[in-house]
Amino acid sequence: MSELSNTWQVSVTLAKEMVEATDAAFEEAGALAVTTFELEPDGVWSVAALFYEQPHIDTLQAQIAQALGATAAVMPLAIEEVAGRDWVAETVEAFPPLPIGPFWIHGSHVGPPDLDRIPILIDAGIAFGSGEHATTEGCLLALGSLRDRGFHPANTLDMGCGSGILAIGAVKLYDCEVLALDVDPASADFARDAATANCAAQRITAMAGDGYATSEVDARAPYDLILANILANPLIAMAPDLARVLKPGGITILSGMLSSQADAVQQAHQAAGLTLVERGDLRDWSTLTMMKG
Ligand SMILES: C[S@@+](CC[C@H](N)C(=O)[O-])C[C@H]1O[C@@H](n2cnc3c(N)ncnc32)[C@H](O)[C@@H]1O
Repeated sequence: MSELSNTWQVSVTLAKEMVEATDAAFEEAGALAVTTFELEPDGVWSVAALFYEQPHIDTLQAQIAQALGATAAVMPLAIEEVAGRDWVAETVEAFPPLPIGPFWIHGSHVGPPDLDRIPILIDAGIAFGSGEHATTEGCLLALGSLRDRGFHPANTLDMGCGSGILAIGAVKLYDCEVLALDVDPASADFARDAATANCAAQRITAMAGDGYATSEVDARAPYDLILANILANPLIAMAPDLARVLKPGGITILSGMLSSQADAVQQAHQAAGLTLVERGDLRDWSTLTMMKG
């Protein structure tokens, strides 16, 4: 078929915990592409799959139900014929590569261009961290700024790794070891795959775990660098634990806070023995770089 032939889109609305299995079931059924996105902040997601040929909708519905287990209530699948479009051009337009500091963030539909930047390959998916959000961007800029200051960590913790974008950036900049942790197991899996896709799997250990209660965090301490793009309140609550596992002279990059919350996050970390090195403000969000001691 030509790239501009008609295709069939099948979509379903469901809870976040069903997204991964549904995505896999669509792929198993021969989908050309599967996209997932959050419809509402309380965990309602949409999964849409594209097929070259019109799929048998009842068979597909049964396959999804089987993948999710007998007790899961699955909304009826919606199907529509989609007029032929230039998918490659549209995907490139919707997800253009992002030049951020020393990095070039791109999906697999766009090869890294010949620029003097470090490529990070991240495809759209269920985990947070495509590079588009100001907090991720702030952390990547801060990583570049640290390198320019001559900082060179050997042992890094990425607390709340999401897609693994910061862990990958740290490995590509510093060739350091990274423990990439996320409370969401699907994000930890995503980060592991992203590390492999970026030839960084040997340096990155991606795992599921809830903050500093995770035993592996203590087992690998102390850290030269801790990346934590979470939210203001968890950052404040975690400040004493962060300080405990950070080496004297070690650095943390904190983000996920609105600019109006940055002073409170800074104060909580000052109370734990850290001092401010740099603050970046981007589109209402702030990123703090702080040093222990
Ligand atoms: C804003 S995203 C940041 C993702 C990525 N690091 C980035 O900079 O784009 C925050 C991530 O922290 C994770 N998270 C939230 N609380 C956590 C906790 N207590 N322990 C580990 N991860 C946590 C979330 O699941 C989410 O993936």
